[in-house]
Amino acid sequence: MIAHVLLVDDDADMLQLLSMRLTAAGYRVTAVESAEAALAQLAIERPQLVLSDVRLPGRDGLALFDEIRARSPALPVILLTAHGTIPDAVEATARGVFTYLTKPFDGKALLDKIAEALALNATGRAEAPGSEAWREPIVSRSARMEEVLTEAKMVAKSDASVLIRGESGSGKELLAQAIHQASARAKRPFVAVNCGAIPEALLESELFGHMKGAFTGALANHQGLFQQANGGTVFLDEIGDMPPALQVKLLRVLQERSVRPLGASQPVPIDVRILSATHRDLEAAMGEGQFREDLYYRLNVVTLSLPTLAERREDIPLLANHFLAKLAAKYGKKLNGIAPDALRLLATAPWPGNVRQLYNVIEQVCALATTPLISLVLVQRALRVPSVEVLTFAEARLRFERDYLVGLLKLTDGNVADAARLADKNRTEFYRLLQKHGLTPGRFRGDVVPGNGDPSTPLVAD
Ligand SMILES: Nc1ncnc2c1ncn2[C@@H]1O[C@H](COP(=O)(O)OP(=O)(O)OP(=O)(O)O)[C@@H](O)[C@H]1O
Ligand SMILES: [Mg+2]
Repeated sequence: MIAHVLLVDDDADMLQLLSMRLTAAGYRVTAVESAEAALAQLAIERPQLVLSDVRLPGRDGLALFDEIRARSPALPVILLTAHGTIPDAVEATARGVFTYLTKPFDGKALLDKIAEALALNATGRAEAPGSEAWREPIVSRSARMEEVLTEAKMVAKSDASVLIRGESGSGKELLAQAIHQASARAKRPFVAVNCGAIPEALLESELFGHMKGAFTGALANHQGLFQQANGGTVFLDEIGDMPPALQVKLLRVLQERSVRPLGASQPVPIDVRILSATHRDLEAAMGEGQFREDLYYRLNVVTLSLPTLAERREDIPLLANHFLAKLAAKYGKKLNGIAPDALRLLATAPWPGNVRQLYNVIEQVCALATTPLISLVLVQRALRVPSVEVLTFAEARLRFERDYLVGLLKLTDGNVADAARLADKNRTEFYRLLQKHGLTPGRFRGDVVPGNGDPSTPLVAD
């Protein structure tokens, strides 16, 4: 899809120059000479980006931005400022303008900023071609995911066992469901079992069922999950956590295509497709004798590996906006976008917990949001990005020392002799330390409550 850029500048030469540059770079351009004309154009057609001069006759670029923010909060706006009007620009970015460029600017810098803004602001419109029902729940537009989904679609048609790998929260279960949906078994049950979450003693009966009286407490016949899934798909999640004794039994079920419920005299034929997932290194588990090799090859006819979220950062804005829309509906809140700087932070965060963590962060900001536009501060809070600077080693040591001394003084009620003994320091050295940190032992004596009542907070200005 060719991105459409709306250009706003009252200088006709500048407008022409920019139009030529952007058209040459492959964008579709609409050029207008005032904020009013831009707003009229926006009412007709929504571009993917607005590039506007700050100084305009009538309404200026910032006023235009405010108007756009009110109508289409997610539409990125880049402002061009004349040399010497930087304070405006700083204020603009604080207000949520994507970025600003100072004239005269470098053509490449401009194109880079535009590409960056467009990438961050990807919406469902940029969705991968050929979206189909089976993969609809999987939001993505990255090439890495596209590869996985293409493979998934191919194997879905067969009955091959598929092992899905990927870090925690990367979407393994979602992919398993999609494979089931894309398979001929779609109308039959999809049964997911978390092998790591069910106590070993119960797992066999859960999977394969039991007969009344098979063990104490077996009061009735119980149909196992394999039988419940008959004709459909069984998803064995966290297969790496399956106890060795059960691995043998599972292997037999897969080989014989039948299950024998506990206490049953006859096996029951079953027809299920097996998908399994793990975030563990099964090869290492095999090497250590924790996972059976024969079972491994049975389950792993095809491997699909999900990339981590950090390996497909282009999906982050798409996922974030998708989750925001979903959660806004869930909480009945009017939320209509994420500020550009906040989106940029999301797109560059480390995401060890992958898509699940992103979902949780968006859920937090939804819960805390008091304005329709999600701000950078909210995202920072949810990501727990410390707002203070990172401490140097020396600073960290100072802080530790002070907290340690405060702890000792609290413990000893401000008795320096006792505190020094506990610290294994002589009194002179201990006094020196207290002095260094501006701590007065008297403040810890008796029921004197220092400072704001919590002596662990700094007693003196640092
Ligand atoms: N591409 C995606 N599009 C939309 N939602 C996704 C996507 N990937 C994952 N999710 C959502 O993220 C959450 C985690 O996904 P899922 O449970 O499939 O991960 P998992 O790999 O099985 O994680 P775990 O290893 O922790 O079990 C779910 O809420 C899921 O719906
Ligand atoms: Mg899972």
